[in-house]
Amino acid sequence: MQTWVIGNWKQNPATNHDVTMLVDSLLQATNKDNVTKNAATAVCQLMVAPSCIHLASVSARLQDSSLLCAAQDISAHSHSTGAYTGDCSAQQVADAGASWTILGHSERRQYHKECNDILVQKMSNALAQGLGIVLCVGETQAQYDAKQTLSVLDAQLSVIKELLNQQSNQSPECAQKLADHLIIAYEPVWAIGTGKVPTVTEVSATHEYIKQTVASFAAPLANISVLYGGSVNAVNADNFAASPMINGALVGGAALKADSFLAIADAF
Ligand code: G3P
Repeated sequence: MQTWVIGNWKQNPATNHDVTMLVDSLLQATNKDNVTKNAATAVCQLMVAPSCIHLASVSARLQDSSLLCAAQDISAHSHSTGAYTGDCSAQQVADAGASWTILGHSERRQYHKECNDILVQKMSNALAQGLGIVLCVGETQAQYDAKQTLSVLDAQLSVIKELLNQQSNQSPECAQKLADHLIIAYEPVWAIGTGKVPTVTEVSATHEYIKQTVASFAAPLANISVLYGGSVNAVNADNFAASPMINGALVGGAALKADSFLAIADAF
């Protein structure tokens, strides 16, 4: 099973100078050991998702490294260009050097009212450009307290089934293509940026449910990686990495410092 440690930089860092410093630190450290070791053993793939404005410069600098670059979002409009102020199309982010895109992050769902219909369209646009998709799912604190986690996940994961229905009548080739281009990131909203984390037992059980659910949509999806996200740091990463159900981490705050990001990568 491929493991991943992905840094979601969100709306950070503030300046080009700070972006350059972060990339410098990542390159210096990964050239020395971490990623070289990981690349050699093909265990853990590292990826960073800068903001759209920094995507091209960061991906250019990471071109000869073993780190990949992702976008944090893409446009729902299927046209590669057009009158969509503020949007970046899948083609534009791919041209800027992204090979993956995060989609459905809870901050997009919360602040941009991103619903399933929009997500299916974005997933379809990503696949049309050959971009991989890091699909984020997860329940809020209120839903967790009401023991609604699994039903929330059912509703959020249904976009995958909808996409398969739309694409090539669910042909085996289509399911395999999706499996090759899909990672699920389970991020309980209440754990994001709060320092609160679910137990490894809870996360493992939830990941098992996610894996079974997507495998029920199409057999090839049984093998996709499921990552955990939410207050992962250099100290707790080992605990999560010990579970075979947790195939990596989607990291926010701790990805903004090369040493903590790479310590998390080392754990996986
Ligand atoms: O996408 C990563 C994320 O939402 C987790 O953020 O800061 O809790 O690691 P953080």
